[in-house]
Amino acid sequence: MSKYQIAVIGGDGVGPEVVAAGMGVLDTAASGFSLAWEHLPWGSDYYQAHGVMMPADGLNVLARFDAIYLGAVGRPDVPDHVTLWGLLLPIRQRFDLYLNVRPVRLLPGVLSPLRDRGPADIDMIVVRENSEGEYAGIGGRAHAGHPAEVGIQVDVFTRAGVERVARYSFELARSRRGRLASITKSNASPHHFVMWDEIVEAVHRDYPDVQLDRILVDAAAAYLVSSPDRFDVVVASNLFGDILTDIGAVIQGGMGMAASANIRPDRSQPGMFEPVHGSAPDIAGTGRANPVGAVWAGAMMLDHLGEKAASSAIMKAVEKVLAKTEVRTPDLGGTATTSEVGQELGRALRAASASGEK
Ligand code: NAD
Ligand code: IPM
Ligand code: MN
Repeated sequence: MSKYQIAVIGGDGVGPEVVAAGMGVLDTAASGFSLAWEHLPWGSDYYQAHGVMMPADGLNVLARFDAIYLGAVGRPDVPDHVTLWGLLLPIRQRFDLYLNVRPVRLLPGVLSPLRDRGPADIDMIVVRENSEGEYAGIGGRAHAGHPAEVGIQVDVFTRAGVERVARYSFELARSRRGRLASITKSNASPHHFVMWDEIVEAVHRDYPDVQLDRILVDAAAAYLVSSPDRFDVVVASNLFGDILTDIGAVIQGGMGMAASANIRPDRSQPGMFEPVHGSAPDIAGTGRANPVGAVWAGAMMLDHLGEKAASSAIMKAVEKVLAKTEVRTPDLGGTATTSEVGQELGRALRAASASGEK
């Protein structure tokens, strides 16, 4: 029986709360395999105690795991660039997790804020480039505090980096409805985004069966709201993918609904699986956090580990609970707590397995 070693970084705010619910659901779904969870107490508390977000050998520690399950990082009393560049972003970079795969799907029983839109209209996957672009971390400041102060942040796009995310996205589109939207701002940024467009078009020659739409990011943001049904697979740079998937989260029911997988297809390094949302300090500690994004991310983790049956059983349980019960957190109009939603998902999984549902 396979036993997967999973590093758990609950992190800050609602992170530990949603991850706890997710772990319970994944343990219930585990059949024919088991999950060995190891909690790593890294994050802003660790920073307050030690002056760093994780130990100096933290990335080497993570390298020994099969996957990383992360809640969220960030607390109002520590600067965000310190927390994120101290933990989350180095993990993505060290393991070269160049794909950030973010499904945007409105589940039955969840109300979208988009009037008259249902599950048939909102079903896409955003593939966010996750290793470079606006998040390359190149830049600096000079003449600090003087009137002549400058701040420089350089976007870095490489041919290899764009080509690999494009190829993955075309493959994904081919396995779905055959439509890929590539998002840039190549009207205003005539260097890297024009290069991006050229590379995507070159890769397109290998996928003539996929329809390629080139859309500028401002228009794409508007289309996500006005006509989400035009999107199947979306590929975007690191920053544009970040922004568009917050819009995506909201049209699929709210920040708490969205999941993400930081992966590389060859599985040579541990992937990191996390909800799209942050630490939500405004609701931390109240039991109001919606755990569905974290649970969904857990299902993506199982899928990536090769446990497809357990992964799809979790998603069926999520759909059933949202479509057939009132058990939901306040963001979805309910009164249930984070852990009550987790327990209800566990019940749905056990009921499905008892009735022999596949
Ligand atoms: P956020 O996603 O934490 O919160 C935005 C809004 O969504 C808030 O109103 C919040 O209450 C709501 N929300 C978020 N998750 C929810 C859930 N599970 N259920 C119900 N409502 C939910 O974004 P923010 O406020 O911009 O950031 C807060 C902190 O989190 C910052 O420090 C930021 O840097 C950090 N952050 C971390 C990650 C990450 O670790 N992956 C991602 C985004 C932001
Ligand atoms: C996300 C988050 C991170 C990002 C932040 C916290 C650095 O917003 O995963 O969407 O921008 O990648
Ligand atoms: Mn984000």
